[in-house]
Order: sequence, then structure tokens, then C-alpha cells
Amino acid sequence: METPTQQVYIEDLGKHDGQRVLLRGWLYNLRSSGKLHFLEVRDGTGIVQAVVFAKEVAPELFAAAGKLSQETSIEVEGTVRKHPKEGYEVGVSALRVVAAPTAEYPISPKEHGVAFLMDHRHLWLRSKRQHAILRIRAEIVRAVRDFFDGRGFTLVDAPIFTPSACEGTSNLFEVGYFEDKAYLTQSGQLYMEAAAMALGKVYCFGPTFRAEKSKTRRHLTEFWMVEPEVAYMDLAGDMQLAEDFICFIVQRVLERRRPELAVLERDVSKLENIKAPFPRITYEEALEILKAGGKEVPFGEDFGGDEETVISEKFDRPVLIHRYPRAIKAFYMKTDPTDARLALNVDVIAPEGYGEIIGGGQREDDLAVLEEQIKKHELPREAFEWFLDLRRYGSVPHAGFGLGIERTVSWLCGLHHVRETIPFPRMLERLTP
Ligand code: 4AD
Ligand code: MG
Repeated sequence: METPTQQVYIEDLGKHDGQRVLLRGWLYNLRSSGKLHFLEVRDGTGIVQAVVFAKEVAPELFAAAGKLSQETSIEVEGTVRKHPKEGYEVGVSALRVVAAPTAEYPISPKEHGVAFLMDHRHLWLRSKRQHAILRIRAEIVRAVRDFFDGRGFTLVDAPIFTPSACEGTSNLFEVGYFEDKAYLTQSGQLYMEAAAMALGKVYCFGPTFRAEKSKTRRHLTEFWMVEPEVAYMDLAGDMQLAEDFICFIVQRVLERRRPELAVLERDVSKLENIKAPFPRITYEEALEILKAGGKEVPFGEDFGGDEETVISEKFDRPVLIHRYPRAIKAFYMKTDPTDARLALNVDVIAPEGYGEIIGGGQREDDLAVLEEQIKKHELPREAFEWFLDLRRYGSVPHAGFGLGIERTVSWLCGLHHVRETIPFPRMLERLTP
């Protein structure tokens, strides 16, 4: 009895040079020329050219191969050999159709509009570019975990249903909660503050939600955020942690995802530049840069995407902007003890115009000041009683930050819009597929 041929994944073909293998995947593309059919076969790990040569297979098989339509699921048997240019190819000896498409595949190799592709996101994911982006995203997620786990942080999961706002009340998603109402979490931070008082160094990593009415290339309504929080850490320590963290992620992607970056035609020299130390400037120094760049902003106003772009263009690596005006920042931020107009916060702006990827800072640890801020921001005091307990019992200086995964993926991949950074994006006008 013949032994069945071993299934091999395309990314492992190099280990099977000269051997007969079984590929199980889908037809990505087909080209024919006379006595040859070139099947581009994909299996989730990569794409390989499978060559059907009229002289090496039965006439029926040759004829059938020439009629295969895009995205037919197929099993291919053949021999692995070196391709003159692109690694390896497979010389086909047998081919089985698992399922033929019931209609023509909607996404042909020609150009399609974004709306069409977004409507077909469930199929679009199969394309080379989307495949590369999702692999880089997964690598970034793994790097995030490795970084914090490797530094003795404990992963603590924050709740998704919350009773109150963390990042302002204007973009809360309200949901029914039995007889009551709840909000989808905007940030796990307040819970991480509680966890840091119990475990010292903690982080959460999960989806967060904001009812963003703005249609920009940086905003999603559902995005993933990683949020470290550390007891006894101050703003300087927080900035150091953010710098180390970003360097780690960029290095990891450069180490492990070069082929994917190449598919995206990413200029990797820009990423190779990302080395410590990153510039640290104050909000007031940022105002000077904006003024010199012809974009004057008065003290007390926040930066939008345009301002971030002007600032980021001045630097070849991420820039840390610290000490924004206290009045425009969230209630929990610590007031600068040397200048009460300012908060001890930091935003990290990615280079090449990608904008803010991190927001964070030192937290207000004084009970009375925090109570006053809750009042100033007109937040419902009852909902924050538990949070105030953290200042009543063993309050210590502490700090943390949140990094948005999609903006980070967008930057590292060199994408135009965050909608391609998450498998199924949720935006103002998009809830499907
Ligand atoms: O600056 P933000 O609002 O900070 C916080 O939520 C803090 N509570 C985090 C903390 O200190 N633990 O958001 C942090 C990051 C932003 O820098 C950005 O990368 C991302 O989250 N982000 C978004 N990403 C995509 N779409 C949106 N609508 C986003 N809003 C924020
Ligand atoms: Mg922010």
C-alpha cells in the first residue's frame, strides 16, 4: 500500500527540498502558457507557485487545472524544487478539488474601491497585503505580552461593562444592563490602578470602545489597548517604560516579520532608526515648534491630528510630549507640583505623521485633589467611590499609560488608515461584516 504524502505548510517548504509533499489550500491565481499552468497556491502560511506541466500529468488533470477558478479549495501533490528567483516551487503530480466556488470570486486581482473591499472584509482577509498585516499585528500582540511578562508584570483583566467614564463622557457607548444601564469600557486604567495597589506592576490588554463621531484615519469605535500601571512609578519612569516598550516592539517586528514588511513595501530603514533615546519635549516646547511651522496654537488647547503631524515631522523617531495644560486633561491626572497649570502626563507621537500612539502619565494620588477634580469634571461621585478608596487606603505615587494597538500596527506597517489594522473594523459607519 502506498503511504500517504505528508502535508507540509508553504512556509516550511524549504525543509523539504526534493521531496514529494501535499499542500492543502486555495487557488490564489492562475496563469497559463501553452503546456504549462502556473498555480499560485496559498495555505495561510504563504503562497507558492505550483507548476502543472502537460508532459508530467494525465491530459484530464492538465485540462482541469487550466479551468480552476480563483479561490477553489484544492489539495496539490508534487515535488519541492528550488525556484530560480523566489525560494521554492512545487512540480505538480496530482491535484484534487475540495470545493469549487459556486460563483465567481468577487475580489479579482484588479483594483477595487475601499467601500467594496470593506463590505467584503471576510474575503479581503485572504489577500497578500491583509495576510501580511494580520501576521504583523499578531507579532506585535505577542511582543506586548513578552515585554510585560518578561519584566515581572502581572496580567490583570479589566471589565468590559463599566458603571462610569474614564476618558470623558462625550464618547461613551451606553448599553442596557437589566433594569439599569452600563457603558462599554473606554479604558481599563482605573481598574489597573486598583490592581497596581495589590500587585505592584500590572497590565491589561483588551478591546476598548469609544463612540467616536469623527471620521478620521486614526479612529475606530472598537480598538485594542494595552495598559501598564506601576505603583511607586513617577512620570519620568513612565516615559522610560514607554520608550523601552516601543523599542522592544519595533525590534521584534524587524526581527521576525521582514517578509511581511516587504509585501507591504514598508521602508524598513525608517523603523531601523527607532532607537533610544527618544526626544522628550514639554507641551510648551511643542507650541514653539507649531508656531515655527506656521501652525500657532494658544496655550490651553489640545493638539489634533494636524498638529501631531507637524510635530512628528521634526523628528525621525517617536517624540514624548509631556506636561499638557491641566484643564484639558482627564480628571485622574496628577497636577504638576511645580506648576499648577500643568498635568504630569505624556503623549507619545509616532513619526511619519502617524500621530498619538500612547497616552498616559502620573495619577493624582491626593484624595482631596481627586475629589475636587471629579467635581470639576461633573462626574457622578457615587460611581467613583471605589476609586477614591485607593487614595483612602495606602495611596502611593503611581503611573501608567495606554498604547493603541491599531495605531501602532498602522505605523509599523506604513498604512494609510487604521481600518486595515484590525480583522473586522468598527467605525462610525461600519458594523458589518
Ligand atoms: O490617550 P488615551 O485616551 O488614554 C487612555 O485611555 C488612558 N486611560 C490610558 C492609560 O493611561 N492607561 O488612549 C490611549 C491610546 C491612544 O494614544 C491611541 O493610541 C489609542 O489609545 N486610541 C485609539 N485608537 C483607535 N481609535 C480610537 N478611537 C482611539 N482612541 C484612543
Ligand atoms: Mg490621548
